[in-house]
Amino acid sequence: MSADRNGEAILPGDVARRVIDPHAYAEWDGLLDTFDAIRAATPVAKVQPDTPGLFDPFWLVTSYDDVMRISKDNAAFLNNPRPVVFSFNQAIEFSRAATGSNMLVDSLVVFDAPIHPKYRKLTQEWFMPRNLARLEDELRALAARTVDRMLEQGTEVDFVRHVSGPYPLRVVMQILGVPPEDEFRMQMLTQQLFGGQDKDLSGSGMDQMTPEQVVQIVAGAVKTFEDYFAALAEDRRRNPTEDVASVIANALVDGEPLPPRDMAGYYIIVATAGHDTTSASTAGAMQALARDPEQYVRVRADRSLLPGIVEEAIRWTSPVQHFMRTAAEDCELGGQRIAKGDWLMINYVAANHDPAQFPDPRRFDAARSPNRHLAFGAGAHQCLGLHLARLEMKILFEAILDRVAAVEPAGEAKRASSTFVGGLKTLPLRVTPA
Ligand code: HEM
Repeated sequence: MSADRNGEAILPGDVARRVIDPHAYAEWDGLLDTFDAIRAATPVAKVQPDTPGLFDPFWLVTSYDDVMRISKDNAAFLNNPRPVVFSFNQAIEFSRAATGSNMLVDSLVVFDAPIHPKYRKLTQEWFMPRNLARLEDELRALAARTVDRMLEQGTEVDFVRHVSGPYPLRVVMQILGVPPEDEFRMQMLTQQLFGGQDKDLSGSGMDQMTPEQVVQIVAGAVKTFEDYFAALAEDRRRNPTEDVASVIANALVDGEPLPPRDMAGYYIIVATAGHDTTSASTAGAMQALARDPEQYVRVRADRSLLPGIVEEAIRWTSPVQHFMRTAAEDCELGGQRIAKGDWLMINYVAANHDPAQFPDPRRFDAARSPNRHLAFGAGAHQCLGLHLARLEMKILFEAILDRVAAVEPAGEAKRASSTFVGGLKTLPLRVTPA
């Protein structure tokens, strides 16, 4: 699987290309086969560009233990200064020219200590279960409306289009105080930020563009987000409510309000991080239930099985497929010598399918215990919205189980072509109303 140069495990070109090719991520089993083979041979392996200068070489980390170790050691493995997701050098240069930063948006995922904990603390309490309990009634009403609308479509539906796409988007927009009429614009902007690699999702042929063109579109999307949220923050300073938008607008760090770029970054990370991710896990859970009618009947009869289904769906789908880190010091990892400044890809898909941690990892096992998956990451950057994601999924499935007696696949489900946030973009189902 790897060529050894200077004692380094280097992935052969064809394998390395699959790791960075968005289209490889549309073929789930093939992708898992690739990661299984890499992990078994070299759990920490170098990915080098075929063309010099295309991107900086990085270490691909595929074993559960190594991904956990890196995630938890936030002093030794930094999010800054290199982009937090895999990026081509040309894209980084354009970002620098457009904003003066390697990233187009500075947000929680870009900062390290000492700034990160100060910013994180601002909204941490808001995202804890005790506060989220206030949202439950609203979520129940939204879930019921969403499922009713799906059933109005007839007995054959695309679950992504009618349920798992719109529901988490509305939840995030609601907590940010974005009215329904602006939602479509927010969705388009998010897809330009995250979904540009998939022609069906970007809606703008971004998959055919040069990195320069893509960065220009993304920079435009960021500017639109910034202007939109500046106006929203202004409103929440004058008329504070209980939403998270008000917390961010009125937050003080070291006695000062957040600088405008950081405030916009905070809104953008909450606006973008919470829907395509939750949508992918929700669609995955539904796909697993549709493929196993007996499981659907069991959970309809015994709702205590639902949290297990939600958790396993999040592991099984691992919608955030990777993040990047930069080594702050020399160290050894998976038998490889990592030098200070080296770039690393922590791959959550691979870690969450590591057979050393998860027996029979491709099997959807709602009773899996323990299920200490890494789909939400770990350490200082662990997903801020994890309790919200679990809560909204649980409430949605309660509404589905109440209203749908049976569900089965009705065609081919398709995955998005994306190396970063990925999952099903269509899930055709046949549904029988209760
Ligand atoms: C199933 C759904 C979700 C998945 C799989 C997911 C996954 C992740 C992952 C892997 C990270 C990076 C963790 C790390 O670096 O260790 C992250 C960070 C983050 N997530 Fe989520 N997420 C989900 C839903 C949400 C929701 C609903 C929200 C909020 C509305 C949210 C907000 C955030 C934020 C703000 C961060 C940055 C945290 C930081 O850097 O301190 N996520 N998420």
